[in-house]
Amino acid sequence: MTALLDIRNLTVEFDTPGGIVKAVNGLSYCVEEGETLGIVGESGSGKSVHILALLGLLPTPPARIVSGEAWFNGQNLMTLSDRALREIRGGQIGMVFQDPMSSLNPVLTVGRQLREVLQRHTDLRGAALKARIVELLDIVGIPHPEARLSQYPHEFSGGMRQRVLIAIGMACNPRLLIADEATTALDVTVQAQILDLVRKLKEDFGTTVIWVTHDMGVVAELADTVQVMYGGRIMERGPVRSVFHSPRSAYTWGLLKSLPTEGARTQKRLYQIPGSPPNMANMPAGDPFAPRNHFATERCHTEVPPLRNVDGSRDHQFAAWYDLPALLAREAADAEARS
Ligand SMILES: Nc1ncnc2c1ncn2[C@@H]1O[C@H](COP(=O)(O)OP(=O)(O)OP(=O)(O)O)[C@@H](O)[C@H]1O
Ligand SMILES: [Mg+2]
Repeated sequence: MTALLDIRNLTVEFDTPGGIVKAVNGLSYCVEEGETLGIVGESGSGKSVHILALLGLLPTPPARIVSGEAWFNGQNLMTLSDRALREIRGGQIGMVFQDPMSSLNPVLTVGRQLREVLQRHTDLRGAALKARIVELLDIVGIPHPEARLSQYPHEFSGGMRQRVLIAIGMACNPRLLIADEATTALDVTVQAQILDLVRKLKEDFGTTVIWVTHDMGVVAELADTVQVMYGGRIMERGPVRSVFHSPRSAYTWGLLKSLPTEGARTQKRLYQIPGSPPNMANMPAGDPFAPRNHFATERCHTEVPPLRNVDGSRDHQFAAWYDLPALLAREAADAEARS
């Protein structure tokens, strides 16, 4: 497989009155052609900032891109002109962001908004253009698309507006679709419908997808690879099955433990990771998760662990100084001995 996107050593900071916020810290990863990458992590882990940075959508200042390359299709996005990036955004890279109300223009009809994207990035005009717009609305499951073209965003439900945004994101058959919290605001049923839709789009068009979410459950359903971020770094990444089955970072383990399951629903309370995310203007010296991690060793508090491969695995990587499976086994044995 070849990497469609190759991010190398991306570091982004913000100058704020409270100091320098280190939002993204030496981030490197690849997305292969046809792969669906699910990126998870609590609020403030650098998910959105790194995506916006590589798309050239961060306001600089206050943001500052300290270092980094982002190779897409043979070009380093970080060195492209604004004009070249505008060509790529909405064209070869489709985007679907959170909050449908603010992403659609309220004073333009839905048909007009789709038309503008297609006119900017394709040669379609006239009847062919109209047919493509109707087709797109149909693909994303909007009933009576022809009649819906002349309606405004407020005439659509939240779920339907999100479908329109996906239609816009997919309009030009992008090679890469990046969604950031695209289903967070929607109820569970609509979310499930949209995930089905994205799976179908992947199957039908082979689109490569980066799906950013808080929700490990969504990752389990949609992604091939999961990437867990914390403090602007990757804590763990690998094939979904491998990471879910045997997490190596205590942070991943905590996220998985806080997932509602059939069993947990009957329990009184869901597990919650103790403490709160770090202050990015004053990051701890070592492993950013160490202050919240009861497995942390002395070294975790002083030295940042590098991302390394799980023994014997080609694609499961983690950043931790401790051996989580061994620690969990010991805890289980101790609990057994006590009972
Ligand atoms: N305009 C800004 N000025 C200052 N700091 C910012 C700005 N935008 C983001 N940050 C900081 O950058 C860090 C990373 O934010 P980011 O939006 O990437 O988090 P996220 O992982 O997307 O979180 P969420 O899940 O809440 O969307 C946070 O500490 C945030 O406060
Ligand atoms: Mg975000």
